[in-house]
Amino acid sequence: MFITFEGIEGSGKSLQIARSAAYLKEKGIDCLGTREPGGTGFGIELRKILLGTNGYSIEPWCEVLLYLADRYQHLKEVIEPALARGVVVLSDRYQDATRAYQGAARGVSGAEIEKLSQVLGIREPDRTILLDLAAEEGLGRARTRNLLSGTAESEGRFEAEDLAFHTRVRGAYLELAALHPERISIVPASGTPDEVFSRIRGLLDQWL
Ligand code: TYD
Repeated sequence: MFITFEGIEGSGKSLQIARSAAYLKEKGIDCLGTREPGGTGFGIELRKILLGTNGYSIEPWCEVLLYLADRYQHLKEVIEPALARGVVVLSDRYQDATRAYQGAARGVSGAEIEKLSQVLGIREPDRTILLDLAAEEGLGRARTRNLLSGTAESEGRFEAEDLAFHTRVRGAYLELAALHPERISIVPASGTPDEVFSRIRGLLDQWL
């Protein structure tokens, strides 16, 4: 099974994926936690370009192409081989992020993104957990985290976007969830990490 975690900046995906992976391992289920961008050696290089505040601009379509390049390599090198071995794959972001960030928030045509993704054979995940949070709250958490960890420059390009951008991202995720209720489950991301994880655990128990 291929499960993706999505949500705006600061929705707590990374922590919840780590807890989910530990929980599944405890249950004796073989699983692999990974992320985009940066799930492969090539992807780590792309991540620096995509998330760094390097002072140069990147055209929205260039962003799409780089995220798809990262995803294609990730699929071939990591995700598909793991699924073929029967391993449960948990990915911190995937295709819905391109739909929400580059499509809805940057304004690239969603239909064109789908067309190109189809050419590349980008498969849909089996299940998606959408950690949902108000944009103000997520952005505040993410900016504080970047300041504390010293990654504001190396990882801060999207956190530097304004509230309207992140509100569009959140709206797009909620629209995707309404369109694909069989795949995407909305999990409220406010509350303590324990509270959020207990909601996720309920879904994992149902699916696996
Ligand atoms: P991530 O490492 O999950 O950041 P955070 O932990 O702050 O949520 O994601 C990296 C950034 O890349 C995030 O700002 C969203 C962006 N992104 C896209 O714009 N499109 C994509 O297709 C993906 C996978 C990520």
